[in-house]
Amino acid sequence: MRVVRVRRDDVDEALRRLLGADVVERGLKVTTRDDHALIPVRVFPPTSVLRGIEHQLGEVEDGELPPRDQLRTPLDHVRRDAREAGWSGDAVALLPDRWERLGRVLLIRVPGGLAEREAEMAGMYARVLRVGAVMAEEGPVTGVARRPSVRLRWGEGTVTVHREHGVEYEFDTARQMFSKGNVGERLRMGRTVRDGETVVDMFAGIGYFTLPMAVLGSPRMVHAAEIDTEAHGYLTSNVGRNGVEDVVRPLLGDCREVVPRGVADRVVMGYVGGTEGFLDVAMEALGPDGGVVHLHEKYGIEEVPERPMAAVEAAAADAGRSARLLSWREVKSYAPAIVHAVVDVEVR
Ligand SMILES: C[S@@+](CC[C@H](N)C(=O)[O-])C[C@H]1O[C@@H](n2cnc3c(N)ncnc32)[C@H](O)[C@@H]1O
Repeated sequence: MRVVRVRRDDVDEALRRLLGADVVERGLKVTTRDDHALIPVRVFPPTSVLRGIEHQLGEVEDGELPPRDQLRTPLDHVRRDAREAGWSGDAVALLPDRWERLGRVLLIRVPGGLAEREAEMAGMYARVLRVGAVMAEEGPVTGVARRPSVRLRWGEGTVTVHREHGVEYEFDTARQMFSKGNVGERLRMGRTVRDGETVVDMFAGIGYFTLPMAVLGSPRMVHAAEIDTEAHGYLTSNVGRNGVEDVVRPLLGDCREVVPRGVADRVVMGYVGGTEGFLDVAMEALGPDGGVVHLHEKYGIEEVPERPMAAVEAAAADAGRSARLLSWREVKSYAPAIVHAVVDVEVR
């Protein structure tokens, strides 16, 4: 095994230069002995690399330098902690390899086989991932307000501030959903909105689409309707937190009643599980020249875009308008053949 021997005081500078020259053997640890250090290298460096640093090139027995810590991922660290806590190999193998970090809160699914160790497991993930609270996800969202089914399993406080693409979303992870899988769609909406547009967000929640549109784009106004008082409270405070009070008008109530009519260049409909039932309101919200409707819904993969297009075409015809598909995309997958899709439709 080749090594470069340097004085202990010089090790940081020598290592920096050797890393720059890409000769360091990264699988082994730099090892200090008395007044000197041994830096493992794959090949000896050109003389110029360590110019001015006293050093010797040499060899040591293979195995003399210990391997570097091979724990690369957070899951590796959690597994190590579980083994050190006496967990069996079978239990360690059940530790989840997925989670969602939303600001200071971690959301994780607890496998059935670890139900009795849930709190201990949550603590391990919390320490490794350095979060303030861990919520166990127990099922799908429920009710009109789409409440998450979660339980605080470690730490304190369920309110978080999640930062994404320069936008801050504050919300209560115990009371409002936040789909990490929709990250691309939130960004897309921020980039899609055109300067000076009037937008109606019919199901604004805490501002999932309203905020990126207002912060990243330059709309004239986003009318953001939300029926749930708590979500509307966060929507309103998030508008202030992101400094877009002049661009967003949070509206509390059923979008059927509160959204303005005849004004929109763009309508966002993000109520997966019930969106199509509100297409008549979207048609009314559009201005006289029409605009673009973004309809989110869950479909069988074979049904997109025909099924949502048929629904929009029918609603447009009822309103004396016409519809043309601009594009569609899969936002995320729910099950092998079930997707959350969004269709972008031009309605005139
Ligand atoms: C949770 S969001 C959906 C998530 C979001 N589309 C996303 O992709 O992340 C849906 C919101 O619509 C609200 N909502 C449901 N029915 C409504 C209605 N009739 N009018 C206004 N808001 C409504 C719910 O309270 C909820 O906050």
